Amino acid sequence: MNASDPQPTSPGATVSIDLGDRSYDIAIGGALLDNPLTYSELPGASSALIVSNTTVGPLYAKRLQKALQGKYAAIHMLTLLDGEVFKTWETLNLIFDALLNNGCDRKTILFALGGGVVGDMTGFAAASYMRGVPFVQVPTTLLAQVDSSVGGKTGINHPLGKNMVGAFYQPLKVVCDLDTLKSLPERELSAGLAEVIKYGPIADLTFLDWIEAHIDALMAREPAALAHAVKRSCEIKAWVVGQDEREAGLRAILNFGHTFGHAIEAGLGYGQWLHGEAVGCGMVMAAHLSHRLGLVDAALVRRLTALIQKAGLPVIGPRLSETDNAGRYLELMRVDKKAEGGEIRFVVIDGPARAAVRSAPDALVREVIDSCCA
Ligand code: NAD
Ligand code: GLY
Repeated sequence: MNASDPQPTSPGATVSIDLGDRSYDIAIGGALLDNPLTYSELPGASSALIVSNTTVGPLYAKRLQKALQGKYAAIHMLTLLDGEVFKTWETLNLIFDALLNNGCDRKTILFALGGGVVGDMTGFAAASYMRGVPFVQVPTTLLAQVDSSVGGKTGINHPLGKNMVGAFYQPLKVVCDLDTLKSLPERELSAGLAEVIKYGPIADLTFLDWIEAHIDALMAREPAALAHAVKRSCEIKAWVVGQDEREAGLRAILNFGHTFGHAIEAGLGYGQWLHGEAVGCGMVMAAHLSHRLGLVDAALVRRLTALIQKAGLPVIGPRLSETDNAGRYLELMRVDKKAEGGEIRFVVIDGPARAAVRSAPDALVREVIDSCCA
């Protein structure tokens, strides 16, 4: 992929994702959540269900409900427990319970108000309730605004693997209200920056330069910096997903750092490290692997490590086993969805702003893990 491929949109707050009759807009800006006009083009329905959690619901659900009032006769609310550990069948079933208990029909529209956990679960519920009802993503974490709310991957975790059960199902619209990021804990902001940084080495070195130059502004939540980071990230993601919605090939590059990252999350137990923290550290490991495979020079590894560290993210991997740490990473990585016939597939950087998916000898991967872990 060349840096020049995804074309930046003109100044404005809408990024479009082109998927034929499943195309939709990502609205990006301040004061979107409360504005009824944000939702004006959505289809009418007799009812809507806002799904949120115990942290985000009290902050924003009433405001969303008020903005939707003239549009839907009945607006139901569901508040889930907060946390990656609740991204389960049991929690998913609570969404179906709410839909059925409220007599929701197949035109009912779901609103996912929260981070990636709420978004992934609500999207999966929308994909399956009565074989599919419409839904809207209203992401309130940086990670969800730049990644998880866009592109239609929905699902839940299984005790044996993360995001192992799910569906591709596109929302009708994504509403990224940047003002909601003001209440985000610092650690969550950093986790979101991991996914922003990801887009640089895989797709756009100019963006990587920009992130390096604006990392302090991003950490300080300067609105203009956040607006550009969200917009450019969404443009790149929309460009990739527009070509490969179901991850037959190209889309896998969006998983840069995720193979190592998923092993960290699963190995430590979901929720110990945030997804973005695991991805940040996973990108350091994937960069080292790319270097050991002879694909990039050491300078890129140093550059990426320094930026990830500046974003407040861990750059040293945790030990997942006291006896055979690398072996435990390898075992966990074999459950990754990219694995084929038990062979682990890694996203590596193989040129300027270019990523590829490939396997690597276990011995080399062991060396990387040994050199990157505590
Ligand atoms: P999250 O949903 O757990 O949210 C992080 C925390 O921030 C939670 O405690 C949440 O309640 C809180 N929060 C959310 N918005 C807030 C706000 N505005 N103010 C205060 N607190 C707020 O985590 P996440 O990082 O948003 O998402 C991670 C999840 O997304 C993982 O399950 C991951 O697998 C998934 N994901 C999916 C995709 C995809 O393409 N579908 C991509 C990347 C990640
Ligand atoms: N977050 C990776 C993807 O959406 O494909």
